[in-house]
Order: sequence, then C-alpha cells, then structure tokens
Amino acid sequence: MKHPVLLSLAAASVAASNVQVQHRQAASQSSPASRSSAAVSLTFTLASTNPTAVPLSSITATMATVPTIPLPSTPQAGASPTAVSGAPGLPDTSTINPANYPPLDKTPPVNSPEVQAWKKEVADSGIPIPDIPPTLPGGCPANLAAAQDTSRCWWTCGGCVRSTDISDCPDKKTWGLTFDDGPGFYTPNLLEYLDSAQLRATFFTVGSRCISNPKGLQLEYLNGHQVAGHTWSHPALTTLTNDEIIAELGWTRKVMKDVLGVTPNVMRPPYGDADDRVRAIARALGMYLVMWTRLSPSATFDTDDFNVHSGMTTSAQVLNNWNSILGNASTMDHGFIVLQHDLFQETVDIATGYILPDAMKQGLQIKPVVSCLNKPMSDAYTETNDNKTNPPPVSATTVATLTAGAPGSAQATGATSKNGAIPNVAFVPSTVLVGSAMAMLFAVSSL
Ligand SMILES: *[C@@H]1O[C@H](CO)[C@@H](O)[C@H](O)[C@H]1NC(C)=O
Ligand SMILES: *[C@@H]1O[C@H](CO)[C@@H](O)[C@H](O)[C@H]1NC(C)=O
Repeated sequence: MKHPVLLSLAAASVAASNVQVQHRQAASQSSPASRSSAAVSLTFTLASTNPTAVPLSSITATMATVPTIPLPSTPQAGASPTAVSGAPGLPDTSTINPANYPPLDKTPPVNSPEVQAWKKEVADSGIPIPDIPPTLPGGCPANLAAAQDTSRCWWTCGGCVRSTDISDCPDKKTWGLTFDDGPGFYTPNLLEYLDSAQLRATFFTVGSRCISNPKGLQLEYLNGHQVAGHTWSHPALTTLTNDEIIAELGWTRKVMKDVLGVTPNVMRPPYGDADDRVRAIARALGMYLVMWTRLSPSATFDTDDFNVHSGMTTSAQVLNNWNSILGNASTMDHGFIVLQHDLFQETVDIATGYILPDAMKQGLQIKPVVSCLNKPMSDAYTETNDNKTNPPPVSATTVATLTAGAPGSAQATGATSKNGAIPNVAFVPSTVLVGSAMAMLFAVSSL
C-alpha cells in the first residue's frame, strides 16, 4: 500500500509541525522533564533491547521514511475474535462508504439526523450534564478561573480524576499497555511485533483513521487487542460545545460499530482533556474514560514519544522518561497506564525496539487495560458485556453521582490537592489547525 501523503510530508511540514507543537504543548503540561532535544543521552541501562531494533541514534525526526508493510494478515468478513466471548462476526468493510460519514479530521456538523438522535440519547440517559461552559483554546493559562475551579474536575489543570475514570491498574507491576491515534501507517509493524512477543494492548483509535484504515482496526480487534475510541478528529474536548462533543463521540462509536460489529465502552480524551461535562456526555453515550497514570504535575506516565517525529524531543529522552515511569511505578502499590502512540514510525520503533523488550525483561505483566482490571475482554464492548463485573455507564441501577478521589488518583494522594498547579505552557491554541493539519497528514491514502 502506497502512502503518497506521507511521502509528501515536506509539503505539509508547516501545518504538520503546528499539530506537533500543539500536541507537544499539551503533553508538556504533564511531562515537563522532556523539554530540550539537545544532546540527551541515556541515564540508565535497558534490561533488554530487541536485536533487530533500529539504532536509537537513528530514531530521529529526520530519519528516512521506511516503507510501510502490509498488515500481517487480512481480516475476513464473518471472522470473530476468540478473545471476545459472544462476539458477532466482523462486518464486510466494503460496506463502509466514507460518503456516509462526516469529513475526516474535523469536528462533525451537529445538525445531522445522527447527531440529533445521539442528543436525544444523551437527554434520555438520565445522566445530568453539568452546566460547565466550554474552555477557551489555550489550556490553563487561557482559563485561569476554570483552572482554579475544582468543582469541574478538569484533568488538564491539576490532574483531577473521578472514581469512574480508569487511570491505574489494580495490581502492582501490571501495565495496561495503550497506543493512541491509529490505526496508522506503522501500526502493522507494531501488530507484527506484539504478535511475536505475545503481547496484547489497548488501541485508542481516531474515528477518522478507522475510515482511512478499517482493516487495521479489524485486525487489532481480531488479534485479541482491546480497541476503544479516541474521538473523530482529536480535538481538546473541553473546548467544544455539548453538541460537538456528542458529534465527536457519537461518530467514533458509530464507525467502530460499523467496522467491528461491537461498540467500545471506554474512550480516551485527546490530550487527557476532560472535565465533568465531558465525563457525563461520554457516560450518557455509554463510555467511561481511560486516562494515563499521574502522580503529580511532573510525574505523569507520558513517554512523550509523540514529539520525536517533530524533533521536539529525542528517542533517548523518551527512554529516560520511560525509566522515570518505572521508578515511579516501583513506589506505587498498584499498576499503571502509560501514554504511547502508534501514529509515527519513530514511536513504533521506540516501543518495539526498546520499551517493550525492557518491560518484558523486567517481569512486568503487560496487558490491555480491560485485562489489567481483571475483567474479560468481552466486558470491553457494549454488546458482549454481561454487565456483571463491569456495570455499563448507563443503566437504571448504575446512574450514580460522580465522586472525587478515586483510589490512586492525584486527588486521593493529595499530590495536586490545590488543583491549581497551573503549568505555564499553553496548549492547543487552535483546534482548527489541528484538524486541518491532521487532514493534510492523513488525507486518505486508502479511500
Ligand atoms: C518520577 O518521575 C519524575 C518525573 O519524570 C522523575 O524526576 C523522578 O525521578 C521519578 N521518580 C523515581 C523514583 O524514579
Ligand atoms: C448490558 O447492558 C446494556 C446496556 O448498557 C444492554 O444493552 C445489554 O443488553 C446488557 N447485556 C446483558 C447481557 O444483559
């Protein structure tokens, strides 16, 4: 499969670097350790590396683009994953017509019949949507009052989580492995490695990418990985109106159901940007949030791998971040969840060449998030969940008031008890730019 769009990256580099600046600024709120890309060397020795790893010094923003490989196998219509008990057969992807979905990489229009129906579903769910106004683009510095308002539990400014959020695994030395933003051009390389290492992960996929690459989404699911939503166009959700959030989540849920035959019941908000309004809308649409572990403003479990592609950090710094994550994890009495991406060749090379071999050698139990919670894979999807060990977000008996301070959360540990630790770096100055630049990067090689 050729990817002319990727090869013409140079043409899109200005727009693309805007995406990356914004993504980095968002990430930098949670990983201030990784600012400089100037000569960074490893501060520790990895327990193991992959013998076929790309040399670390070659994993840079300017590395030659490696040709993509095909998916390790091609999912067939009617197949169903053995890991998901009760799963229906896979739909035929030839029935997925992009013309039946909104334009890629933009927040979908809110006046469509689909969004109108999902608005009614939210209204009928019985879950109250708090009257919190959208935030302004620019993150905490642009929203000082909102950032100090602990009642809205805005993760971005202070790391607040609710008991309904999943941000840790319960068992020590257990890692809920996650990859965001795919399925992408290098996802096949990652899938091939995970298969060979007998590892399974959770993929938070972007709805627009599921249109670009439905077979990639199917193979993730068929091979025993958990798949879950990551919005339609990757916006900072707290900046959107209720209707726009409904459109972002509703279309992602729909394309995943159309491609897989099942509906994920968790999602990850891009940049971790969620407050009680976003939480309530997600729950009303049947989804809990999955974050990544955060002990304090400086100790978030973010590898910052996203920023190698743009040159804003180095592969060595990403591994140093990984080492800090492991150090922090060793002080906790429970397991953890880390932020990584399957979007770029660099992020996949670092994961498969270094981080995963190291983690396996260290004896970590590496699992999809639903498995690290000691739940069966069938609990990850609305249609296959028996609702016993994993009560669905919406049901007559489980509509509960959100409560602060989940065990292991930043609030419970008191690490950010002021909730006003406002990073001095802005994030996502323009969601429009993110959307259009993402569109330039991906505009659809496989349509
Ligand atoms: C925890 O993470 C922080 C920030 O990355 C790092 O400075 C610190 O050394 C880590 N702690 C341990 C015990 O490794
Ligand atoms: C679980 O709950 C969902 C509603 O969230 C419902 O659609 C589904 O039928 C339930 N499953 C079972 C096995 O009862």
